[in-house]
Amino acid sequence: MVYAVVNMKGGVAKTTSAVNIAAALGRYHARKALVVDLDSQANATSWLAPSDAYDGPTMAQALADADVTAQVIGKSTAPGVSLAYGSRALADVSRELRANSPVPGLALRNALATVSGDYEAILLDCPPGLDLLSINALIAADELIVPVDSQSMALSGVTKIRENVAELLRAKLLPRMPRIRILLTMYDARLSLDRAVKARIEEIGLDLFAPVIRINTNLAEAYGLKLSIFDYAPASTGAADYGALAALLNQEIGLAG
Ligand SMILES: Nc1ncnc2c1ncn2[C@@H]1O[C@H](COP(=O)(O)OP(=O)(O)OP(=O)(O)O)[C@@H](O)[C@H]1O
Ligand SMILES: [Mg+2]
Repeated sequence: MVYAVVNMKGGVAKTTSAVNIAAALGRYHARKALVVDLDSQANATSWLAPSDAYDGPTMAQALADADVTAQVIGKSTAPGVSLAYGSRALADVSRELRANSPVPGLALRNALATVSGDYEAILLDCPPGLDLLSINALIAADELIVPVDSQSMALSGVTKIRENVAELLRAKLLPRMPRIRILLTMYDARLSLDRAVKARIEEIGLDLFAPVIRINTNLAEAYGLKLSIFDYAPASTGAADYGALAALLNQEIGLAG
């Protein structure tokens, strides 16, 4: 199953979600998981790479040449999780694809085709914005996970994603409508926004993950220490919440066979 973790809005916990969902699937459900870093900030790579010294090819090269994909994947620090490296070079990929590729939106799908059989869950960590790399992720994904931070309620980003998906369907770049689910992140029950948030999401006809991710500074600390939340603070609410979400996804992966 390929999940795009996508939202045009920055800082909504795309990377935190991609990394920790993969970590839980690998650690607690023995799933072979792959995190694909598509962001030129390369935060997922900083988080998961065993060393900062890597200077081999990254997703920037794999997007240009699908034969390279297997070479840009390495072991991560999280058990059961592989990492497809990202790098600064991803900043130039959109322009290069537009100039050189007959169908620029298919580059990621092609790049993943050679390796996807090796993994049960592939998490695509998208950059903020809906540039060509995120469009590539929408096309390559079976399902979309859209983190929305509970405070800002940036649902306009979700509407934009749906418009893009509809456009890709019309252009026949997508065979069918992918499942789109919202993941509430940085949720603070004390602000008692929960019912309002849920109602608003249902009002515009969107699917919401039952597990929500509460505000938990351990998640930010785990990033600084380059550990998944399960390795850094297994008793934290962050671990409980991402654990619950991964358990749900694991069940669905099992059903999908
Ligand atoms: N549940 C949470 N509680 C508290 N802080 C969080 C939570 N989830 C994420 N954060 C923090 O919020 C910030 C943004 O998270 P993250 O980098 O995952 O977002 P992003 O959507 O990937 O951002 P970008 O768009 O820049 O790629 C980080 O500092 C992260 O540690
Ligand atoms: Mg990110």
